[in-house]
Amino acid sequence: MCAAAPRRRFTGTGLIVATHNAGKLREIVELLAPYGIHVSSAAEHGLPEPEETGTTFLANAELKALAAALAAGVPALSDDSGLAVDGLDGAPGIYSARWAGPAKDFGAAMARVERELDERGTTNRRAHFISALTLAWPDGHYESFEGRISGTLTFPPRGDRGFGYDPCFIPDGLNQTFGEMHEATKHRISHRARAFSQLVEACFAS
Ligand code: IMP
Repeated sequence: MCAAAPRRRFTGTGLIVATHNAGKLREIVELLAPYGIHVSSAAEHGLPEPEETGTTFLANAELKALAAALAAGVPALSDDSGLAVDGLDGAPGIYSARWAGPAKDFGAAMARVERELDERGTTNRRAHFISALTLAWPDGHYESFEGRISGTLTFPPRGDRGFGYDPCFIPDGLNQTFGEMHEATKHRISHRARAFSQLVEACFAS
């Protein structure tokens, strides 16, 4: 059996967060804060949003980070994430953002999840969030990590914190939705935090 190749360490002082999603940008900036890395956004660099043509979270994270790193000439970190609902065979999954339509209406996206569950006649409300993170370098090298958190959906959605599908998701072991709890609590346990701690361990920690 082959040993896993060593991960490339991040030795720079700055990176681009390759996202145009303000909620994700805020969370990633907070997660990076302890590492003294100068963070800029794809929007600040005038980078276009690449089309997400991948069929997995990892493939989409990789194409977004590589596009930004190659265009800007500095390392880039991307997140591709979404909500996978058991009773909908994993939908919306990689289409989580697209279910909100051009108006990015997540109230409508959460209503669609509830409607489609009802249409299937299922009482199964199990779901999980997944986050794939990719750190890419301008020479085309990249490292990827995946984190997930399981929970139960609740309708109507509750809370106005967080973003996206947060108000309808109650993580296992807690009784508040991600939309109700303090950001710091979400950041300790979320799918993104779990992917991020693997990234830190592999690429940042000294
Ligand atoms: P994408 O990764 O840009 O395709 O977008 C992922 C979409 O998944 C976001 O627009 C949100 O709707 C949803 N999503 C991902 N992470 C979270 C989260 O932490 N909370 C709520 N919704 C999320």
